[in-house]
Amino acid sequence: NPTPRVFSGIQPTGIPHLGNYLGALQSWVSLQEEFSSVLYSIVDLHSITVPQNPDALRDSVLDMTACLLACGVNPAKSCLFQQSQVPEHAQLGWILSCLTSLPRLRHLPQWKMKSESQKNEGSVGLFTYPVLQAADILLYLSTHVPVGDDQAQHLQLTQDLARIFNYQYGEFFPIPRALMGSSKKIRSLRDPLVKMSKSDPHTLATVRLTDTPDEIVMKFRKAVTDFTSEVTYDPEKRPGVSNMVAIHSAVTGLSPEEVVKQSRGLETAQYKHVVAEAVITKLTPIREEVHRLRGDKGFLREVLTRGTHRARELAAPVYDKVCRIIGL
Ligand code: ADP
Ligand code: NA
Repeated sequence: NPTPRVFSGIQPTGIPHLGNYLGALQSWVSLQEEFSSVLYSIVDLHSITVPQNPDALRDSVLDMTACLLACGVNPAKSCLFQQSQVPEHAQLGWILSCLTSLPRLRHLPQWKMKSESQKNEGSVGLFTYPVLQAADILLYLSTHVPVGDDQAQHLQLTQDLARIFNYQYGEFFPIPRALMGSSKKIRSLRDPLVKMSKSDPHTLATVRLTDTPDEIVMKFRKAVTDFTSEVTYDPEKRPGVSNMVAIHSAVTGLSPEEVVKQSRGLETAQYKHVVAEAVITKLTPIREEVHRLRGDKGFLREVLTRGTHRARELAAPVYDKVCRIIGL
């Protein structure tokens, strides 16, 4: 059996939001305790599939590093590194792209969505980035990948490519498994029918990890609910209030039923303040740590350099073997 190994990546696109934290980063932190080999990559090669400003991109990599550390990613327990600094990602990506058919990529829903947002003039890189994602995972012979359900089809592509390679050249890559978070999708505070997302143009829709307490209170106060003042949990019929219950539950660790019980007698307007306070309690230490770390860019670069070094030690021998296997 292959050594259990977790791999996950996040694009360096600004300060993560509450959805990223509750849906992904929190589980990244706990996986460090459950697995002895864990790699987390800031996937800057994926960011450049759409236009980027060079200085902003460089800053974003360091900001994301600060945010991950502040959330509890611990470089002593997991290998935290910058994807572009390990050239084997792009190299294995090329090899896997030669095993991928065009129709296989054309059918991925994210391509349709993202290329439409580029007015259907998306780059070749945007089209093939799921292959690079497969390379990210397979390069470390990873066995477990924490993914949101929006990424499930990309992990299937990774599994298919591992199987295609193994079938053609003999068993080599473990077939990586999804670790589906049990956490719920966090929804936009302005439109509870869509998920909270960094690309939401409405500034009040998304709570960022570095929002001040005042900003958090204001965003929750303006959150869209409905015309019933009681607090209940019914995501189908009452998505707005239920989103707040889900957030409240996620930041306190209590079940939705428990937070509803605690909030009996409150009107939704009052409840918004309770949830805002719970979010502030959760995010304050993170916000303070992000600010502290952002002031020490030398330290952040050092963390990435050390992580990159360890990642290359794992990646290089795997890539060499792949080359030998296929005759390069
Ligand atoms: P965004 O949707 O804001 O662009 P990403 O696609 O970069 O965020 O997602 C990074 C990680 O955060 C993924 O694992 C994704 O599943 C998770 N995630 C993103 N938005 C949410 C959300 N609203 N609720 C829960 N998890 C989320
Ligand atoms: Na996404």
